[in-house]
Amino acid sequence: MDEPAILEAGRVLAGKGLVAFPTETVYGLGANGLDWEAAARIYAAKGRPSDNPLILHIASMEELFPLAAEIPAEAKILAEAFWPGPLTLIFKKTAIVPYGITGGLDTVAVRMPSHPVARRIIQAAGVPIAAPSANTSGRPSPTKALHVLEDLDGKVDMIVDGGTVGIGLESTIIDVSGGCPVILRPGYITEEMLFPLIGKAAFDAAVTGEAGADVRPRAPGMKYRHYAPKAEMTVFLGSPTQVCISIENALKQAAAEGRRAGVLCTEESERFYDAPVKKCAGRRNEPESVARSLYDVLRSFDKEQVDCIFSESFEETPLSGAIMNRLLKAAGYRTVKCNGV
Ligand code: TXA
Ligand code: MG
Repeated sequence: MDEPAILEAGRVLAGKGLVAFPTETVYGLGANGLDWEAAARIYAAKGRPSDNPLILHIASMEELFPLAAEIPAEAKILAEAFWPGPLTLIFKKTAIVPYGITGGLDTVAVRMPSHPVARRIIQAAGVPIAAPSANTSGRPSPTKALHVLEDLDGKVDMIVDGGTVGIGLESTIIDVSGGCPVILRPGYITEEMLFPLIGKAAFDAAVTGEAGADVRPRAPGMKYRHYAPKAEMTVFLGSPTQVCISIENALKQAAAEGRRAGVLCTEESERFYDAPVKKCAGRRNEPESVARSLYDVLRSFDKEQVDCIFSESFEETPLSGAIMNRLLKAAGYRTVKCNGV
């Protein structure tokens, strides 16, 4: 990335401008995080409900102190282990953090990204950068600059193209503002990675779905329908073999009814399906590849004029929690349990 582009992005952000930029998780839509008027432009560009707070992005530990009223011991441990990286921590906020970026909450979400372009842009701006994912509200998060252009062309001052992102799912969010750490959104940093550092972390009931669909999530953004392709999507739950057989049956039925069906599968399973449209979300035996391509695949179905999408499920690895969280949201929790589940 050339230095003039970084400096220009910094200048735009230091004013009241909007800059979309790559992070290691997904592309972010940045604005000056200490200026509620700049942040208001983010909400307008995305069509985002104003009660959904933004994450403040910083480039060094020193930048955290003016934002967080308290930094509990667990937060220090987690920040030391995973910053810079795909982890967001929720703290009690200080007075300089505007309520306009916290959705009126007394807490603030902070993340230190590891992507070199993101880090240099934050440094060039010289202020914490409020940045949600750079998609229109409800659409899958952008994992390449083209996705940002699809959603926000003409609504932002600058898009910095850093190629396709490495992770592809948004950061893990952990609330450390109220005693025990609670995972509000699963991500690349998994329960297994947290365990040696802070023991067993609790999940917000809205993440696990235990408390039913009507429970109010502690991360306001988790309550909205998200990531959804236009066609009705169903996730088939069960072992890969059982799923494959059930999807083949569903494809036959869809064909008989004259419905154009798409399958969300993997490179390993693609050859088993006889379907009008097949999209591979990476390789099953490499879950990182599934995470990286999932949103691109969800977006690509919209260009295929399919009536329905049948998706395989991903349940066997630590990263599966984050992948399934996004996939089930995209499907509006519409699932089929295949034999033996
Ligand atoms: O990986 C990421 O986190 C990306 C990149 C750009 O950094 N950002 C991202 O932001 O995913 P966004 O706005 O799409 O999602 C932020 C989530 C929302 O669900 C929001 O409700 C939650 O974080 N959140 C933000 N501040 C919060 C707070 N104070 N308390 C609880 N949840 C909060
Ligand atoms: Mg988002």
